[in-house]
Amino acid sequence: MSRLIVVSNRVNPPSGKGEESVGGLAMALAAALREYSGIWFGWSGKTTPEFTGQLNMQRVEGVTVATVDLEEGDYQEYYNGYANKTLWPLFHYRVDLTAYDRSFGEGYDRVNKRFAETLRPLIEPDDIIWVHDYHLIPMARELRRLGVTNRIGFFLHIPWPAHQLVVTLPRHRPLVEAMFHYDVIGFQTEENLQAFEGYVLNEVGGEKTEDGRLRAFGQITEAGAFPIGIDAEDFARITKSPRAMRVYDRMAAHSVFRKMVVGVDRLDYSKGLEERLLGFERFLHDHEEARREVMLLQIAPLSRDEVEAYQDIRHRLDGLIGRINGAYAEMDFTPIRYLNRSYRRDELAGVYRAAKAALVTPLRDGMNLVAKEYVASQNPEDPGVLILSRFAGAARQMKEALIINPNSPEEISDALSRALAMDEAERKRRWEDLMDNVTRQDVTAWRDDFVAALKGDPTVQAANT
Ligand code: UDP
Ligand code: G6P
Repeated sequence: MSRLIVVSNRVNPPSGKGEESVGGLAMALAAALREYSGIWFGWSGKTTPEFTGQLNMQRVEGVTVATVDLEEGDYQEYYNGYANKTLWPLFHYRVDLTAYDRSFGEGYDRVNKRFAETLRPLIEPDDIIWVHDYHLIPMARELRRLGVTNRIGFFLHIPWPAHQLVVTLPRHRPLVEAMFHYDVIGFQTEENLQAFEGYVLNEVGGEKTEDGRLRAFGQITEAGAFPIGIDAEDFARITKSPRAMRVYDRMAAHSVFRKMVVGVDRLDYSKGLEERLLGFERFLHDHEEARREVMLLQIAPLSRDEVEAYQDIRHRLDGLIGRINGAYAEMDFTPIRYLNRSYRRDELAGVYRAAKAALVTPLRDGMNLVAKEYVASQNPEDPGVLILSRFAGAARQMKEALIINPNSPEEISDALSRALAMDEAERKRRWEDLMDNVTRQDVTAWRDDFVAALKGDPTVQAANT
């Protein structure tokens, strides 16, 4: 069997202790690599004054984890800069937050080159290489320059935006050209795939080949939609773990006379946290009878906190939550509980299960795994209700959620009252449908479909064209 080499900026070795870092990519890759003897290569999370290219290798549960430190300047220009001040906001439709600083692009190319050079000696002829996310788009180009001829695939965890947004990026063309060094390119949804194809066909004169692949820049690549999932089986297992049960018992005891609604997100402006809070405020305003009955637990670990836009959203949320709690709290009751720390997966599972509804309200999101985890953690006899933004990739699959537009506080408020009043039969019917999807399209199916396409399995290729 050929080895799988996974390459991502954020590396999250499966510790087995549930202490993995926060973020959908890390969660999914830890699960995807679980039964694969392979290599996971990426950033160590540390910086050094000068780039050394020194590999830190460790063996964790059958996976070789190989990481490299970033030079401080690279960390600023590549990670804080091009990845998180340019590509992330632009790909999440926030042109207003997008910085087009030339040095960021240079740092981005430099790190991709350095990563490729560091990874090169680890690659054997039969390995297949799978690169992840917006930090590392030019990785295949750099590996090819070093003579790597292995199959290389790329998966974008975040949205691929509409043509008119991509072209606002100076040097958008070389970025897309770099993608044509991959054999397979995966997107989260059909909509993202179509947006990419639209760019290729209309902006750079590319074309579709007879077998459905894309030709441009003198190269051919295969692009497909591969919606990511969670490790549903593992989630069901940890939901019954002692730690999850303890958290569940505590939360349930706390909410005997109250209904808890939960939100779990990295503190990111793409997650629609302000919109969610405005919707909750509207709910409290319109439903006097529910004011002492419903509380929102919002878990929001800090993320990318050296980037100004993240500091700004944090301040705005502090203000908004203060205002709502100030207006609606009683001496013995606070409507919003807000936590800027991260929790382990088993703890989250207990919280999800105790919540009567989950609010997942991103303004844009590649997929959103929290939506799927909430469903996977429910008690089949008494499931809670998922309220989901139409702008999450997950909304394409999770049609039995209450789908809302997060820009409307009224829609959020109405969905909340509907969710909290929903009878058991309807909750069960909706949950069963959602759970069926979460189980079938899980992380293993995602990995197997992508890897089969990358290996050139003709049946999968046909399904994706
Ligand atoms: N997460 C976690 N602890 C926390 C908050 C979040 O482990 O305190 C995990 C969460 O369970 C999920 C991931 O972080 O697996 C977030 O993934 P999602 O796709 O929802 O959003 P992303 O952060 O990737 O944008
Ligand atoms: C999203 C991105 C990932 C990233 C994660 C956490 O899931 O798609 O690539 O790892 O957020 O962000 P961070 O900047 O901490 O890696």
